[in-house]
Amino acid sequence: MSHEDRLFGLYVHWPFCKAKCPYCDFNSHVSKQINFPAFQAGMLAEMRHLANRLEQPSRLCSIFFGGGTPSLMPPDLIAAIIAEAEQIFGFSTDIEITAEANPTSVEAAGLASFKSAGVNRVSLGIQALDPAQLHFLGREHSVTEALEALALVQTTFAKVSIDLIYGLPGQTLGSWQMTLQKLLELGLDHLSLYQLTIEAGTLFHTRWRRGDVLTGSDDLVADLFLMTNAIMEEAGLSAYEVSNYARNGHECQHNLNYWQAQDWLGIGPGAHSRFDYWGQRIGLVTRRSPKSWLEMTALNGHAIEVESLETPTGWASEMLMMGLRLKAGVDLDLIERKCGPRKLWLDLERLETHLNAGLVHFIQYQNSERLATTAGGRLLLNSLLADISR
Ligand SMILES: C[S@@+](CC[C@H](N)C(=O)[O-])C[C@H]1O[C@@H](n2cnc3c(N)ncnc32)[C@H](O)[C@@H]1O
Ligand code: SF4
Repeated sequence: MSHEDRLFGLYVHWPFCKAKCPYCDFNSHVSKQINFPAFQAGMLAEMRHLANRLEQPSRLCSIFFGGGTPSLMPPDLIAAIIAEAEQIFGFSTDIEITAEANPTSVEAAGLASFKSAGVNRVSLGIQALDPAQLHFLGREHSVTEALEALALVQTTFAKVSIDLIYGLPGQTLGSWQMTLQKLLELGLDHLSLYQLTIEAGTLFHTRWRRGDVLTGSDDLVADLFLMTNAIMEEAGLSAYEVSNYARNGHECQHNLNYWQAQDWLGIGPGAHSRFDYWGQRIGLVTRRSPKSWLEMTALNGHAIEVESLETPTGWASEMLMMGLRLKAGVDLDLIERKCGPRKLWLDLERLETHLNAGLVHFIQYQNSERLATTAGGRLLLNSLLADISR
């Protein structure tokens, strides 16, 4: 693959929210006072610094404003970041520029100015279509507000995705099926449907350790997952990744970059960059705390505090781990070209066992033979990966 064929993306992390949701372990904070000009100066400086770390800058295929809650960012800040990115890297003709947004009415109304700033795709965190579930998830918006925000966003942006969380206590196959049917009536081309996970360091984790039941049983969640895949596929939205469903041509380019282990830079507190560099794989991580990220960028022009050079095995396992999330799987020959013979990073005997058990299969995709998980294999992805990687 030439440099031109590779995806190249920029991730911008906005680390603030109106309130902290009890299930969320993202780097997000509630703060009364935010020094926006200092964030702008830090983000632009960090972008310039990272551009100089590349083997060869390419045109950007995607920018992703993630959080936290990027819909709380001032539109001028969004515009300044996009303008600087275009000046430094240039944009591919069909660049995808996504902002994550929370569906409160105020934020939805403000998103029109994000469009003027250059954003062309919005990912709206609806999370649930049931008032009791929204309350359980500690969300700040109602179902009506979320649906109104969605309708507004759909009139403004051609590309819209929504996030929902399932596998909640009390949820049944029937009630989730009804939710999916309602969602399918909304005319969406992309949905992210996540199973609730109890993450360390969250309020839900504390409650779970005390014995509260916060998720459906493993068996029910597995059935919900398989039903979700079947319903979405039937409606023409391919389960192109473990939690992501899209009509053909509407897959999220920015996230495909991660899943295909290509090249991206990340700016802002706690952002990760990963890119190929003269035949090696570099990983960078910036300071996580917003306050010390600001101090560090003011001092050094960047807040990178971890730098790693992957071993061939580490790099191979990144490509396997990310690629097996995709229905289109991963090209083992490509990994061999970068990381050496497969027996060094793949347990071929265990792979054979999982091929025979129908958890993985070889498929033909875009002129290459690829290893991919079946729907059943994606259900057991973590243990499968631990088993086949060396
Ligand atoms: C960075 S967050 C979302 C952006 C936005 N602040 C919001 O809440 O709508 C990205 C998505 O991750 C999902 N998510 C976060 N924590 C999760 C968890 N513990 N289990 C499942 N999904 C989770 C939510 O669906 C959320 O919309
Ligand atoms: S789910 Fe979204 S709004 Fe809630 S704390 Fe996480 S990033 Fe913030």
